[in-house]
Amino acid sequence: MALGGNAVAGRRRHVLLFPLAYQGHINPMFRLAGILHGRGFAVTVFHTHFNAPDPSRHPEYRFVPVPDGMSGPAPVAIEDVVSHILALNTACEAPFRDRLAAVMEEYSRDDVACIVVDTHLLSMVKVATKLSVRTLVLRTGSAACLSCFVAYPLLIKRGYLPVQESELETEVSELPPYRVRDLMQLGRRHDLTCKLLERVVGAVKASSGLILNTFDALERRELVKLRRDLAMPVFDIGPLHLFSPAAAAESSLLRQDRSCLKWLDARPAASVLYVSFGSLACMSARDLVETAWGIAGSGVPFLWVVRPGLVAADGLTRLPDGFEEATRGRGMVVEWAPQEEVLRHAAVAGFWTHGGWNSTTESVCEGVPMLCRPHFGDQMGNARYVEHVWRVGFEVAGALERGGVEAAIRRLVTGSEGAQMRARAGELKKVAKECTGEAGSSGLAIGKLVDHMLAL
Ligand code: UDX
Repeated sequence: MALGGNAVAGRRRHVLLFPLAYQGHINPMFRLAGILHGRGFAVTVFHTHFNAPDPSRHPEYRFVPVPDGMSGPAPVAIEDVVSHILALNTACEAPFRDRLAAVMEEYSRDDVACIVVDTHLLSMVKVATKLSVRTLVLRTGSAACLSCFVAYPLLIKRGYLPVQESELETEVSELPPYRVRDLMQLGRRHDLTCKLLERVVGAVKASSGLILNTFDALERRELVKLRRDLAMPVFDIGPLHLFSPAAAAESSLLRQDRSCLKWLDARPAASVLYVSFGSLACMSARDLVETAWGIAGSGVPFLWVVRPGLVAADGLTRLPDGFEEATRGRGMVVEWAPQEEVLRHAAVAGFWTHGGWNSTTESVCEGVPMLCRPHFGDQMGNARYVEHVWRVGFEVAGALERGGVEAAIRRLVTGSEGAQMRARAGELKKVAKECTGEAGSSGLAIGKLVDHMLAL
């Protein structure tokens, strides 16, 4: 590896990273690690015991465990996930201070360019700042979503929040194209949502630069607004997975079942619906049944990720009796898939997604149109952009009924409207590829990010 500009007197510069230990946050941070390592940085990853990475999958990085004192099963309900993130911040603060101080003592201070921390870890940003370690933050959602976080106090003042049922369709004129129902919400605890978002914005403002997993052609207007509102260096270097494709399998918390790729090989081009609701979203047993019979009734071939714990309430995720027979030869169900490779597969015609930001960008980059069923957080806003701005899919809103599901799947996969969405998604795929070229907006932004890190 050439040391290039990232070396001091022949020694490699170090970059330290601290991801939030949830799948949707781990993946982009490890892709960033891959990019920086490729630019000549030595990488050290701090991590919690909760959802700890497997160091043997990344022999090129150094790992520093930070005790979090947490025990028991992973939280399931979104309110519990939020409380867990806040608790991780508190629990890790002191141990992280000790470990960061030890690492800084071990490396010469000049050798460490900076630490990049997930925006959900404000306590770690504060610790690093106190120890005079330059800090950048990685926000794993969209630029539009972060603008919503920044605007939250104003939206509360103007009466949009907390959300009232009667106002769901009201347009938020301060944040077009959001309606009230598209605004970031994390379950029923408005106080918890406010606290979490305030801390994210606090982490961004306390840092020396913001890294975003988005790209100019996708969110140009939103990036202009964010740069104006934050008045700090913003590096839009996404889609990160296009720069660092190998990292997905390496940072997956669940084993990816690769047999589905073989199954896809045997399907005609653009024939299969891929269905996955990400790593956190849960559904009721009733919705699972309606989803299953809707998929079966559509007649469309499918690959469905039914993650253990997808049905939260009773801990049992069981497909309805008769579903397997009704769909034999036409569908495959797996617990976890190599999603990026699935979306890249020529047999895939559409993606029924919860609309997590990683899933959305991964789909966009492969020209796959989407059926969105948002559950919480940024997913409603992402679905709004998919349907209203990029016009590469549509939302399945309201109560899930098998008849509606069937119709929505056909509309996306076999209908003429779906074909138009696929064509637009194909255009987005092209611009995403262009952005990641050396002279593309994200390629250039990576160069600027590296320069910024070295100049800190
Ligand atoms: C969460 C939130 O839901 C999301 O809205 C937010 O932007 C980030 O945190 P998650 O629910 O996991 O993330 O969704 P998403 O952002 O889509 O990330 C899921 C990741 O898991 C993707 O990178 C996807 O490729 C991967 N995945 C998903 C698999 O590798 N296999 C699967 O079967 C499903």
